[in-house]
Amino acid sequence: MSEIGVGILGFGTVGAGVADGLLKHRSVMAARLGVDIELKKIADLDITTDRGVAVPSGVLTTDAQSVIDDPSVRIVVETIGGTGVAKQLVLAALKAKKCVVTANKKLLAEHGREIFDTAAENGVDIYFGASVGGGIPIIRVLREGLAGNDIESIHGILNGTCNYILTRMEREGAPFDEVLKDAQRLGYAEANPSLDIDGFDTAHKACILAALAYGFQPTMDQVRVEGIRNLNGLDVKYAADFGYRIKLLAVVAKDGDEVEVGVHPTLIPLSHMLASVNDAFNAAMVKGDLSDYTMYYGRGAGRAPTASTVIGDIGDIARNIAHGETRYARGVPAYAEGAVRLKAAGDIVSKFYVRFMVADKPGAFGAIASTLGRHGVSISAATQKETNETGFVPVVALTHKARTSDLEEALAEIKASGVVGADPIKLRMI
Ligand code: HSE
Repeated sequence: MSEIGVGILGFGTVGAGVADGLLKHRSVMAARLGVDIELKKIADLDITTDRGVAVPSGVLTTDAQSVIDDPSVRIVVETIGGTGVAKQLVLAALKAKKCVVTANKKLLAEHGREIFDTAAENGVDIYFGASVGGGIPIIRVLREGLAGNDIESIHGILNGTCNYILTRMEREGAPFDEVLKDAQRLGYAEANPSLDIDGFDTAHKACILAALAYGFQPTMDQVRVEGIRNLNGLDVKYAADFGYRIKLLAVVAKDGDEVEVGVHPTLIPLSHMLASVNDAFNAAMVKGDLSDYTMYYGRGAGRAPTASTVIGDIGDIARNIAHGETRYARGVPAYAEGAVRLKAAGDIVSKFYVRFMVADKPGAFGAIASTLGRHGVSISAATQKETNETGFVPVVALTHKARTSDLEEALAEIKASGVVGADPIKLRMI
């Protein structure tokens, strides 16, 4: 049986999970794949902290380049994260004609073009299954299982930290900061939690999904990203009163030759399957023209689930190498630039939840309704909540489908008219 050597760069949460899984499941993988995958090297600046893995002697090193240079290492796994040293090392490994597996969504979303071009130029593969959805093999679904479909839409709950926070805010009314700390303790959160709570991690994943579905990867500055940092517990509660649950949703959807790519806290009806995706779980609902709706659910973060997908990628590459396949697939199948273009955020049509803090005086509610009407925004349900002592009352309106820019213009006008005491809150609905 051929033996394929693996080197891991980064011995943190995910790296340790990958090492542990490779060591524990070596024989079962050999039986399944017909290839013996041997963990040869692990590099990290800190090789003294106990990561709970029985690493054979001689495997740990502080010298990442020595892992890339080791001739017995055919597959380099990058689990460092970020775009600094991780990018340098991934490019160095590809140039050394090593296949690479990475879970680094930021790297691919921001530098995917350079990384994939380098892989193609060097005739080696880059796999990135765990970059979206952690333990859910959604990347493989799009590259293989649904490859024969025209993908109409992908709706994803793709950040475990945010989903965990939203779930506990709704269930317990728990304070945001306290729940975030728990998510960090449980190993879900990014080193910089702003990536999670401000929606950028979800947006990185949405960009990767857009590339897979449409051969078109927007840059991060083109994508409208709204996180959950400023989400008010009031809106979580009012959404529940209307029969909805708020989730941070990635949307990648095609409309003719335009593609919408965005991340927004979104009201989802309780009867919708995505509304039952709670805690740190992730899910993606994909609509293909042939498959119709399919849904993928699982743990989107954490050591073992992420390692599961990374190890699946290692297995696939190892089998390719062992079978002598010299033609490696390009990482992202098509950058068919020009075939589709990004839909302008203002042109996106959606139903909305809007909350106004309305001056408690005659005609205020009516002025809001008529301004919305003048901008073509039609109200499907509205309710005035309890009065508070500030002289402003919360009024919540749900709209029929409206153009985002029409609603935004109406809200700006309402704010300028002085009938509200704070910026109106606008959330999307599905
Ligand atoms: N911080 C990410 C999350 C990890 O919470 O989902 C997986 O990408």
